[in-house]
Amino acid sequence: MMFNSPKKIFLTTLGFTILGFLIQVILPYQANTSHGTLSNLSQEDSLALKGQEIYQKAGCQYCHTKNLRPFAWEIKRFDNIEKTGYYPEFTAQERHYDSPALMGSLRVGPDLSRIAAKLDENKLRSILNNKKSGNAAASMHKYGYLFNDDGCDMNPLALSWKVKILMNMGVPYSDAFHKSALSRLEDQTRGDALIAYLMSLGNKHAEFSGNFYK
Ligand code: HEC
Repeated sequence: MMFNSPKKIFLTTLGFTILGFLIQVILPYQANTSHGTLSNLSQEDSLALKGQEIYQKAGCQYCHTKNLRPFAWEIKRFDNIEKTGYYPEFTAQERHYDSPALMGSLRVGPDLSRIAAKLDENKLRSILNNKKSGNAAASMHKYGYLFNDDGCDMNPLALSWKVKILMNMGVPYSDAFHKSALSRLEDQTRGDALIAYLMSLGNKHAEFSGNFYK
C-alpha cells in the first residue's frame, strides 16, 4: 500500500503538485502570442489603466463580472456580436493587461467584459452619474462623486511607477505608454478614468476581430 510508505506518499504528492502546476500555470501561458495578438489587446490609454483602479476601489467587481463565457445566451445578452466578431469570449491573453484581474464572481448586475460594444460613452456616463430616483440602475450607481472631484485622487506619479513595475514583471506595456501616464491624467476626474476603462472593455475586439469578420 502506498500509504504505508512515507517515501511513496512524498513522491506522489510531489508528482501531483508538479502536474497541477503544469496544467494550471505552465499550459495556459503557452497560448499563441505571435502575430501581435498581445499588442492588439493592450490598453492604449493609461487613463484606462487608472480607471481600472477606480473600478476596483469603487467595488464594481462585487456586482459585475468580467467573465464572458462562450455560450450563445451569454453572448447575446452581454455582447454585441455585430461589433465584436465571431470570437467574442474573453481570452486569457486579455488578462495579461489586467492587474489585478477583476473577474468578479457574482452577477448582481450584467457582465461588463464587452460593455464598450454594447453601450456608448454617453450612456455609460448617465448610468454612473444617474440622478433619477426610483430606477434600478440609479439606486445602485450613485457615483456622481467620482465625476465631481478635482482630480486629487488621481496620483499620476503612482500610476507611472505602477506601469514601470508591471513592465519589469513582464507585462508588455510600451515605453510610450509608461511616459503617457503622467500627462494623461491631468485635468481628469476619477469618473473620466472609469469611463475610459469601461470603453476599453471589448473595444479592441470590436476594432480588430469585428472588422475582420464583417
Ligand atoms: C450593488 C450592486 C452594483 C454595484 C456595486 C455596481 N453595479 Fe452596475 N449594475 C448593477 C445592476 C443591478 C445593474 C442592472 C440595472 C438595470 O437592469 O437597470 C447594473 C448595470 C450596470 C451597467 C449597464 C450594463 C448593461 O449591460 O446595460 C453598467 C455599465 C454598470 N452597471 C457599471 C457599473 C460600474 C462601473 C460600477 C462601479 C463604479 C458598478 N456598476 C457598480 C449593480 C451594481
